[in-house]
Amino acid sequence: MAKDSVTITHNGTGKSFEYALKQGTIGPPAVDITALYRDAGIFTYDPGFMATASCHSAITYIDGEQGILLYRGYPIEQLATKASFLEVAYLLMHGDLPNEVRLDEFEHVISRHTMLNENLKNFLAGFHYDAHPMAILCGVVGSLSAFYHDSLDVHDADHRLISARRLIAKVPTIAAAAYKHNVGEPIMYPRNDLRYCANFLHMMFATPCEDYEPSLIAEKALNLLFILHADHEQNASTSTVRLAGSSGANPFACIAAGIASLWGPAHGGANEAVLDMLEEIGDVGNAPKYMDKAKDKDDPFRLMGFGHRVYKNYDPRAKIIREVCHQVLNELADANNPMFDLALKLEEIALSDDYFVERRLYPNVDFYSGIIYQALGIPRNMFTVMFAVARTVGWVSHWMEMMGDPNNRIGRPRQIYHGPPTRDYLPFSQRSG
Ligand code: CMC
Repeated sequence: MAKDSVTITHNGTGKSFEYALKQGTIGPPAVDITALYRDAGIFTYDPGFMATASCHSAITYIDGEQGILLYRGYPIEQLATKASFLEVAYLLMHGDLPNEVRLDEFEHVISRHTMLNENLKNFLAGFHYDAHPMAILCGVVGSLSAFYHDSLDVHDADHRLISARRLIAKVPTIAAAAYKHNVGEPIMYPRNDLRYCANFLHMMFATPCEDYEPSLIAEKALNLLFILHADHEQNASTSTVRLAGSSGANPFACIAAGIASLWGPAHGGANEAVLDMLEEIGDVGNAPKYMDKAKDKDDPFRLMGFGHRVYKNYDPRAKIIREVCHQVLNELADANNPMFDLALKLEEIALSDDYFVERRLYPNVDFYSGIIYQALGIPRNMFTVMFAVARTVGWVSHWMEMMGDPNNRIGRPRQIYHGPPTRDYLPFSQRSG
């Protein structure tokens, strides 16, 4: 038997089947069981994909044991301190860092796609004034497929690239418009002379009566948060985008599906939930009570911003954000931010608590990000929208990778059926109950 294979023996029939191990550049190998059902008539069962690789990918690598995150091979710590968000976007989409000319071209193209079709404003106007901006984002991004028919042929690589660029360019415009709708201010047009993050802050905070000059520290902080949130391999929303796209659905519909998945509190919705939680706890003195609630299996309360499916070590993104929090809060004259102090204290308590230590629960990317967003003046219900703006880059990169793969097949999991076996239709007179 080959060393790079796994043998599965069916104890009932005594038959054995050999399956090859697939090895990536780094990381554990995966046993290729695609022929298992054909060979042995059995499925595998892995709810939540605890041990299942759903695809090949060359975009992002995570080592959850060591707390390592690489985008196309580059450590996140290097990109976060040295690169611009659009440079990282190019890297994720195309595989390599751009040279200066390519980056200029890319920035130019993205800035030329930032405007929305004017009729899209009618969609925005239809939402209730207090609609959650994630609801608006999900609906309006989905509606883009009704406006941009000229880039919807998913089998054409040029169309795919145009759609991907349109999404990266237009999602921030829609996100800021959702905020403006909430606060009842006119939607601001994008400014092509500004960099990506500065333009986003302009669309959020300028009004037709008053311009807004984003501070360099605000722009830098946003650039960093967007880089850290740009991709995270096969997380729930990215897997949703891939599954939706595997049927040949158009990219705008797929990204809308990703936004819907991201909204959940176990995923991107956690950054909003962390601030709700910190506000509820209110004071360090209440921390023990809430720690007990988090550990109580009969209580739905969880320490939001803690724990991760993959990281069993400190999330490297949380480490960077925690450091930057100090810097941003100091520079924005918000040094005595009580939420940040409480978060630091909670982390300290949790990391010395047996429950969290045994389960290897550490702060994740969402634990500190909301504190920075809040210091930048971003309202709490926009936190997950901010995550979506950044993650759009990851979603389109994965979608393009999948659609360009000649082996791509429709995603179609199997199940273990627990319903009634075959039975006959009965007339009313013979039905019980
Ligand atoms: N507070 C209290 N207990 C927790 C927490 C938490 N935040 N996270 C996990 N646990 C416990 C869990 O109850 C379980 O205990 P036991 O083994 O006794 O049953 C154990 O730790 C393992 O947790 P799990 O729920 O089986 O782990 P998972 O991989 O299915 O879930 C998670 C991962 C992120 C959904 C979960 O840790 C969680 O709900 N965290 C809070 C929400 C959050 O911060 N989400 C953001 C994730 S990172 C960014 C993103 O993905 O968008």
